[in-house]
Amino acid sequence: MKVCIGSDHAGYALKEMAKKWLLDWGYEVDDVGAFSEASVDYPDFARKVATAVARGEYARGVLICGTGIGMSIAANKVRGVRAALCHDVFSAKATRQHNDSNVLTMGSRVIGAGVAQEVLRAWLSEEYEGGRHAPRLKKITALEDDMLTTKC
Ligand code: RB5
Repeated sequence: MKVCIGSDHAGYALKEMAKKWLLDWGYEVDDVGAFSEASVDYPDFARKVATAVARGEYARGVLICGTGIGMSIAANKVRGVRAALCHDVFSAKATRQHNDSNVLTMGSRVIGAGVAQEVLRAWLSEEYEGGRHAPRLKKITALEDDMLTTKC
């Protein structure tokens, strides 16, 4: 499975760790940056990862900032992206099962490396259940489509 990973400065250190875990687990990984702890803007990296996932270049995306919230907000602006902010294993599994999330966001200032590793592992290995969740995802897609032409 191909995974695209990105962070801002706040998520840089955890992103470097996550990249190593992914490679150790046998995933193919592309890193879009940030490449240091110099201050950058998280939407730039959310855009890179989310659009690459939306284009189908990667099966999954991982985004890390200080809280995970900014990355989640930005990534979810991209049509076809279902980004899930997860800081616990239960949520990581549930969002794969129910939401078929294709981007995971985490906050490096919220959780430590140990929990982040477990969350990432759980999120990558859990399958989407389909069934009763499928019409709900269709409604999300319909909402995206409507918002292209409609103002609230
Ligand atoms: C950077 O200071 C911080 O705002 C960012 O990493 C993130 O937490 C935004 O949601």
